[in-house]
Amino acid sequence: MTPRLRLAVIGVGHLGKEHARILAGLPDVELVGVVDVNPEQAQGIARQYGTRAFGVHWPLLNLVDAAVVAVPTVYHHAIATDFISHGIPILVEKPFTSTLAQAEELLGLARQHSALVQVGHIERFNPAFEEIQRRPLQPKFIESQRVGPFTGRSTDIGVVLDLMIHDLDLLLTLVKSPVQRVEAIGATMLGGHEDVVHARISFANGCLANLTASRVSPRPMRRMRIWAPEGYISVDFARRHLTLVQPTQRFRHQGLDPRLLAPTGRGRIKEELFDHYLQTCEMDCNSGDQLTRELEHFVQCVRTNTAPRVSGEDACSAIALATRILDSVRSHAWTGEGSGPVGPTQLPTPLGFLFPPEEREAA
Ligand SMILES: NC(=O)c1ccc[n+]([C@@H]2O[C@H](COP(=O)([O-])OP(=O)(O)OC[C@H]3O[C@@H](n4cnc5c(N)ncnc54)[C@H](O)[C@@H]3O)[C@@H](O)[C@H]2O)c1
Repeated sequence: MTPRLRLAVIGVGHLGKEHARILAGLPDVELVGVVDVNPEQAQGIARQYGTRAFGVHWPLLNLVDAAVVAVPTVYHHAIATDFISHGIPILVEKPFTSTLAQAEELLGLARQHSALVQVGHIERFNPAFEEIQRRPLQPKFIESQRVGPFTGRSTDIGVVLDLMIHDLDLLLTLVKSPVQRVEAIGATMLGGHEDVVHARISFANGCLANLTASRVSPRPMRRMRIWAPEGYISVDFARRHLTLVQPTQRFRHQGLDPRLLAPTGRGRIKEELFDHYLQTCEMDCNSGDQLTRELEHFVQCVRTNTAPRVSGEDACSAIALATRILDSVRSHAWTGEGSGPVGPTQLPTPLGFLFPPEEREAA
């Protein structure tokens, strides 16, 4: 019988505790320990899943076959460096690191020590995205919205590295073409980092993408819409739901020129559009949750020493694009001149209110 793979989770906060829960339940895995600088957190999770609690990760370097790193991003580089330097495979949560230089350094180290690196771009394991990947698609326009209320976590990074990074990785997976141009604008609401960002990315193959990310939005939404010559796809990542629309055979062969139709036929276009000319397919993609699939994939890659679906190189490319977006956000001149306010923290002074005081008080 193959021995169980010895794993540890470093950082068992909001997400790390879910990693611990799932790993503790995988039959071919032994969760040998959980690490957290908060001793109560480490002990509580260790007790729950029948494993040992640690306050630092160093003792684990001699006890594990692989590790999951789910500490705040600012600590990813230091902790990943220790595991990689010991040739230990790691799954590092997204974003891989806080800076591009750190990501590149870790990649170099991983090559030097032949250590497998997977990065937690979890949406790649979302069954809805997997379904898209099975279809022929050459995207020409992509629009994504990833917004939600402030969680009080991930305050060490801004919304680009926190939320938009998911869509940047998906975008680079879908559009296999060099990025030509990046324009972005962002604003700070809570201080420290950008909290709302809109980015426009053009690719050498003619594809254009508009991305929005916000962590100060009252209602959560994780949606992407893709237009391609093959048709249109709308993805709801939270519901794992797809809407696919494609031109019918008839439309492909005959086209639709309303000027050639008799007035009665023209009058029916509205009712017939999504029947005669365009076909729609709604799909619920419920083949398991993405975190379990991501961890099972990691375990399988470690066991078979195969390249993971989301490699360190992929994560590095996403961070490189995020860096270009952040550069654009930081250099945006709000009044069109460098001598005026620049970047996400220096918005122009408001000129007035959008609604009168009575309504402000009511709100
Ligand atoms: N893939 C996703 O969709 C997703 C979702 C949420 C968070 N994340 C990522 O996961 C990571 C953790 O986020 P979170 O929301 O769970 O944060 P969190 O603050 O809830 O948890 C982090 C935990 O790490 C512990 N910690 C801090 N420094 C440590 C150290 N040096 N060694 C050991 N433990 C340490 C903290 O005490 C805390 O319990 C971040 O990188 C974040 O971007 C990814």
